Amino acid sequence: MARVVGCICTSHVPAIGKAIAQSLQAEPYWKPFFDGFPPVRAWLEEVKPDIAVVFYNDHGLNFFLDNIPTFAVGAADSYRNEDEGWGIPALGKYPGDAALSWHIIESLIAQDFDPATCQRMLVDHAFAIPMQLLWPKPGTGPGGTVPIVINTVQYPLPSASRCFRLGQAVGRAIASYPEDLNVVVIGTGGLSHQLDGARAGHINKEFDRFCMQALEKEPSRLLSYTNEDLVEAAGAQGIELLMWIAARGSLGESAVMLHSNYHVPISNTAAGLLLLAPFAAPVEG
Ligand code: DHB
Ligand code: FE
Repeated sequence: MARVVGCICTSHVPAIGKAIAQSLQAEPYWKPFFDGFPPVRAWLEEVKPDIAVVFYNDHGLNFFLDNIPTFAVGAADSYRNEDEGWGIPALGKYPGDAALSWHIIESLIAQDFDPATCQRMLVDHAFAIPMQLLWPKPGTGPGGTVPIVINTVQYPLPSASRCFRLGQAVGRAIASYPEDLNVVVIGTGGLSHQLDGARAGHINKEFDRFCMQALEKEPSRLLSYTNEDLVEAAGAQGIELLMWIAARGSLGESAVMLHSNYHVPISNTAAGLLLLAPFAAPVEG
């Protein structure tokens, strides 16, 4: 059977793509951010996940304001990233796993989640930048991906508790897939940031720290927050925390934090990184 081997949550700021394209990783501005990643890459090299299931929010590349699903699951053989106008190179094509996608879709619908199913889907920076951060060498990424989009663009948005339950349902779907696959679940976005309006530049370190701790030990503490509470605390785009909450849901009840990093700011964003693994009770005797 397939299993979730871990959960990685990371910010997805487009400027990261520019820094990589210009090899700025060792510059003082970027170093504290990029230094967060080697331990996560070492874990990925050890665990070698076959598949990445990626919760992210599309920013207008694949869905626009006239046509926005609350939840959407990719069901294609591959997914292409395209130029979105951030001045970063388009990052190419990612392999899908349409059979696993359809299994997840069927399982979700049986569990009373009704996602849009996308047999054609472009993936934006929120998918491509984290893939580039986790597997920087071309051709080293997982053999298949399943993109899952959660709407954070146009209200009404699904609640934190709904997104957590979506993640739990995806976790159950993976665990019921008959193939022997190691799956890493990725959540991208956040942490606190606001790109426009009177509070542009808003960052809330205390709330971000609270979220990172709660995601490890007690995710239920985040689930009573309304989206208005989250926007007030984390900023209008800080609502992308919903991706981290969904990804955490797929891990099951108890998790252990294997690595974390937090650096402020990258562009307008508090950049967070979390690597969580399912808690395995020590073997007796
Ligand atoms: C920035 C952050 C984002 O999450 C995003 O999607 C685009 C830009 C930023 O801080 O620049
Ligand atoms: Fe974003």
